[in-house]
Amino acid sequence: MDAKVSKKELNWSELGFQYVKTDFRFSAIHRDGEWGEGALVSDDHIAVHEGAPALHYAQQCFEGMKAQTAEDGRILLFRPDLNSQRMNDAATRLLMPEVPRELFMRGVEEAVRANYAWIPPYGSGASLYIRPMLIGVGENLGLKPARQFEFRVFVSPVGPYYKEAGLAVISLAVSGMDRAAPKGTGSFKVGANYAGGLLATRKAQELGANEALYLDSAEGRFIDEAGSANIIIVMKDGTLVTPASRAILPSITRRSIMEIARTELGMKTEERPIELRTEIDQFEEMGACGTAAVLSPVGRIYFDDEWHVIHKDGKTVGPVMQKVYDSLVELQKGDREDRFGWLHEVEI
Ligand SMILES: Cc1ncc(COP(=O)(O)O)c(C=O)c1O
Repeated sequence: MDAKVSKKELNWSELGFQYVKTDFRFSAIHRDGEWGEGALVSDDHIAVHEGAPALHYAQQCFEGMKAQTAEDGRILLFRPDLNSQRMNDAATRLLMPEVPRELFMRGVEEAVRANYAWIPPYGSGASLYIRPMLIGVGENLGLKPARQFEFRVFVSPVGPYYKEAGLAVISLAVSGMDRAAPKGTGSFKVGANYAGGLLATRKAQELGANEALYLDSAEGRFIDEAGSANIIIVMKDGTLVTPASRAILPSITRRSIMEIARTELGMKTEERPIELRTEIDQFEEMGACGTAAVLSPVGRIYFDDEWHVIHKDGKTVGPVMQKVYDSLVELQKGDREDRFGWLHEVEI
């Protein structure tokens, strides 16, 4: 099959962050202690037993990655080995079987390759979002692990997470609700962390913010993260800081940004607890980063009954965020040399 000839007629640059049904998804079943081979399927529905532990007890985890088209047509993944590792960390935490690296990569690559027609072209500002997931299925009633699991990978072409294309300045509202307990599951990408965040996001949006910002749940003093992104802050002395916390998702984007900032942009970087109320005066620029959010500058934060402007008028992209964003995105799209060895090409 010459998949390359038939790109879909989509208005790529108008895409938002919504599910678009593509042609194929990859599915593999774990049964009797063993993973099956797995295969591409076309049905976008999963029939699961009504007692499935994924449905009742949130025995499930997932990942989020993107494939981008380079200018020369190569299809690039960004550090997929780290997504594989993070999925297995979550699997272990929730008593699910690990997905072997080979199966994870094969599932991702087959889903991307089979849906070549849906991969947004270079320069469109859109990309192919990849959602690997691992769910506990099969018949169950009591609180115990599933005896059967499905590893599935589906893909969807997506545009920017926060409406406007490119670098959209966003605002955050500190949530009165906690996301994750200090020794809970906050550092794992498990669905259980997100259902509780829906109301927090709704409340933040009612205040006019794009997203909720969570403080540490033990004391409500230190910045944890946003609903679906980690936080980075440029302090007035030029240091790039990011919260040290056991309750946040270890973002692959953040880890990459910190490394780019240190090694390529010559910035001093620190990972340490950041106390919101006592340190905000020292914030020069702030950003929310993640696979979906990429790097969105944060202009304002709402807490203690008022808005606090971080940078300029709260609507302007700061120079450091612009520079970091450009460096990251150029690397991910293959526009510049991958000196870190972070890109993984999917052979079409
Ligand atoms: C809660 C949360 N924090 C941070 C991130 C960012 O992680 P990554 O950069 O690995 O996508 C995500 C996912 O995108 C997330 O859901």
